[in-house]
Formats: sequence, structure tokens, C-alpha cells
Amino acid sequence: MTGSPYLTVERVTFRYGEGPVVLDDVALSIAKGEFVAVIGPSGCGKSTLLRLLAGLALPTVGRLTVAGQPIQGPGLDRAVVFQDYSLFPWMTCRDNIILALERAGLGATKAERREIALGYLALVGLAQDGDKLPGELSGGMRQRTAIARALAVNAPILLMDEPFGALDEITRARQQDLLLDLWQGGQGEKEAGKTVFFVTHDVEEAVILGDRVVVMGAHPGRVVREVPVTLPRPRSRMGSLKHRNFSVLRDLLLTELNLVVDEGLEPAVTAGAAI
Ligand SMILES: Nc1ncnc2c1ncn2[C@@H]1O[C@H](COP(=O)(O)OP(=O)(O)OP(=O)(O)O)[C@@H](O)[C@H]1O
Ligand SMILES: [Mg+2]
Repeated sequence: MTGSPYLTVERVTFRYGEGPVVLDDVALSIAKGEFVAVIGPSGCGKSTLLRLLAGLALPTVGRLTVAGQPIQGPGLDRAVVFQDYSLFPWMTCRDNIILALERAGLGATKAERREIALGYLALVGLAQDGDKLPGELSGGMRQRTAIARALAVNAPILLMDEPFGALDEITRARQQDLLLDLWQGGQGEKEAGKTVFFVTHDVEEAVILGDRVVVMGAHPGRVVREVPVTLPRPRSRMGSLKHRNFSVLRDLLLTELNLVVDEGLEPAVTAGAAI
């Protein structure tokens, strides 16, 4: 990390009730404006860590902070894209965003909030779909609505849980470029320089987007490695894919992931896989 810490996870251990330890002594320090990508095997606690940052759960041990203040609940400073999108099913896409704007105190009038909502829907390629209910959309469209909602409320911190996981390859590539462009200020100052905590299961996506990739291991969930992404900014997806550092970073992260996945397997299974 360069710069002073803005979002911190300080020696956090977490259990759901009396259950097993899900996160064990996790420490992370994220600078203002930094883009951190998080990868790790399924069940290692990525979503749990994101929920703690969102203030939707409190740590069993340790603390999390924003700008030096302990996180004690959800706040307008943090917008979240959940892994399951979390849209209200009885409201149209547009109204889901308008409600979030209302809650964030944005837009002076209903008409203004409607304009803002439509603008963000257009940004994610859903200009024609604002009147639809989430149940009338594909998974990828619901996911894009949730992304539009998180962007619309203009929080300085974006917590995103596999936001592009349900998208087809082309749409995913476009959304990656859009996020890069927004974050780098290509769509105006308002969008630029957000602090992003981005969970993904896609190593290439982590490298394309992140300033740093945090690798988590499972049982219990913990940070096993942090890898700075040595690709120049501003970036585009294609520019990053073609950069000579790209494959080195991807291979390094894949090796790390393989190590943590092997660690979590029974010895017999690991031995079998090696033959
Ligand atoms: N509400 C809950 N109550 C009890 N245990 C939970 C709850 N939510 C998650 N867990 C457990 O916590 C562990 C971490 O889950 P989490 O959803 O954080 O993993 P993840 O890394 O996001 O996985 P994935 O990549 O599959 O989304 C898992 O063992 C899971 O079973
Ligand atoms: Mg998850």
C-alpha cells in the first residue's frame, strides 16, 4: 500500500455465532483511492470480510475502520454490490436505484433522481430496461442494475462482491473497462478515485483491475499473500492483457491459489492429483 491507511482491517477474527472461526487474524490496510482485488477459494471468507467492511456484521475480535473511525454499521460512505445483487423484487430496476438515491439524500427532486438513475442504467447498458422488475431480467442484467445502484449513490468506497461473475465474456470485458474508466476519472471527477474492495474468483480480472491483489486461504480464512500489480495506469483491459508483466502476475497468483487450495485438501486427494 502507498499512502496513509483509509480503510483498515485490524487483526480481525470472526465466527458466525458459536460456529467455527471463519476469518482468523486478518489484517489489511487500504489507502484512499486504492483498488484492491481479493481472490481465494470458495468459502475462504471473502464475502464475510466484505460484510464486515460494509458494517453488516461486527468482528468477534479486532476492529475495522474508515478514516480512523471504527465501522459500527452500514454507512453512506460505503456502497455495496452483493454477490446475490440484493434488489427489491417488487420494484423496477429504476425504482431500486431511485430508492438508494433517496436514502443517500441525493437528487433534489423525484424527477432529478429519476434522471440520475436512468443515467447510471444507461452506463451499464440497461437504458431500455428501467421499467422492468428484477424478476424480468437475466442474472447478468440484475447484476448490472446492482452495479448501477452502487455507482449512483456516489460513495467514496465501493465494496464489490464478484460483481461481474454472472456476465458473459463480452459484457464482463466491457464492464471491466467501464469500471477502470470510471475509477480513473474518464467519466468525470465525481466518479474518480474511489477506494475499491473488489472480490473476484477470476485471477485475470484481479490483475486487470487491481493496484494490489490480496490472496486469501481457507479453513480458517486468512490473508496469505499480497501482490502489487505492476502494470501502468491509466489502464485499459486490452492494454493490461498485452503488457509483458501480465502473464507473470497471472501465473504467480495462480500458483499461490493452487497452493492454498492444495493445503485445504485431504493429503490423499492432493497425492492423487499429483500422479
Ligand atoms: N450466515 C452464515 N452463517 C454461518 N456460516 C456462514 C454464513 N455465511 C457464510 N458462512 C460460512 O462462512 C464461511 C465463509 O463464507 P463466505 O461466504 O464468506 O465465503 P466466500 O469466500 O465468499 O466464498 P465464495 O467464493 O463461494 O463466495 C463458509 O464456511 C460459510 O459456510
Ligand atoms: Mg462469496
